[in-house]
Amino acid sequence: MSKIVKPYKTDKGKKEQVKQMFNKIAKRYDLLNHTLSLGMDFVWRRKAIKKITNNPKKILDIATGTADFAISAAKYTDANITGIDISDRMINIGEKKINKKNLKNRIKLSIADSENLPFNKSSFDAITAGFGVRNFENLEKGLNEIFRVIKKDGFVVILEPSTPKIFPLKQIFRFYFNTILPKIGTLLSDDRSAYTYLPNSVKNFPNGKEFIKILDNIGFRKTSYFPLTFGIVSLYVAIK
Ligand SMILES: C[S@@+](CC[C@H](N)C(=O)[O-])C[C@H]1O[C@@H](n2cnc3c(N)ncnc32)[C@H](O)[C@@H]1O
Repeated sequence: MSKIVKPYKTDKGKKEQVKQMFNKIAKRYDLLNHTLSLGMDFVWRRKAIKKITNNPKKILDIATGTADFAISAAKYTDANITGIDISDRMINIGEKKINKKNLKNRIKLSIADSENLPFNKSSFDAITAGFGVRNFENLEKGLNEIFRVIKKDGFVVILEPSTPKIFPLKQIFRFYFNTILPKIGTLLSDDRSAYTYLPNSVKNFPNGKEFIKILDNIGFRKTSYFPLTFGIVSLYVAIK
């Protein structure tokens, strides 16, 4: 079990705090996300979707936030997409983007908890989760729910930040992640905790083989991972 890292120093549970944090930064989330990733987040999501090779008709986007992964899935597949998230403000922004892009007939968003999904077993052909699973209060519970609602032979693709392993990228990235990123994050979002939570939660999250082992234990097969952009993000692929 990984250590539980929470955004704020209060007694509230992680889920409540994570929801509070994303509600607080929702308006600035897209700007921050695209700035801090130097626009690479779109490339990472596209790479992840390209790994789904079973021609899905129904995709679930877990922790959809402002719906960027759901929107990419609509662009690169023919599927109908359901996006769920615990933060109503993130979802509201997602809805506006979907309306603007005329994707209302392809993407439906709703408020739901990934650790208690309101869907029957074997409901989806593929599941995407971008920068979300690290925020679960109970990682195994959330992954078990993903396993339950995906069909046999369905694809799961998960993106999570990770830390590069090789010199000098490891050192450069550590400096950027621990020093520069919290400063830009605080400046743009007004929530310092959110951008110290980010490096702390990444540091304490199972990375690479460690995360693969968890997916294997849940029951997924053909699990694999791909370091992207010098390993600052990892793409995990699993099949039920
Ligand atoms: C970093 S954002 C990622 C948003 C989007 N997937 C992307 O690629 O940009 C993480 C999202 O996870 C959501 N989240 C965290 N825990 C969750 C849970 N248990 N159930 C549903 N959503 C959750 C947060 O509310 C937040 O919107």
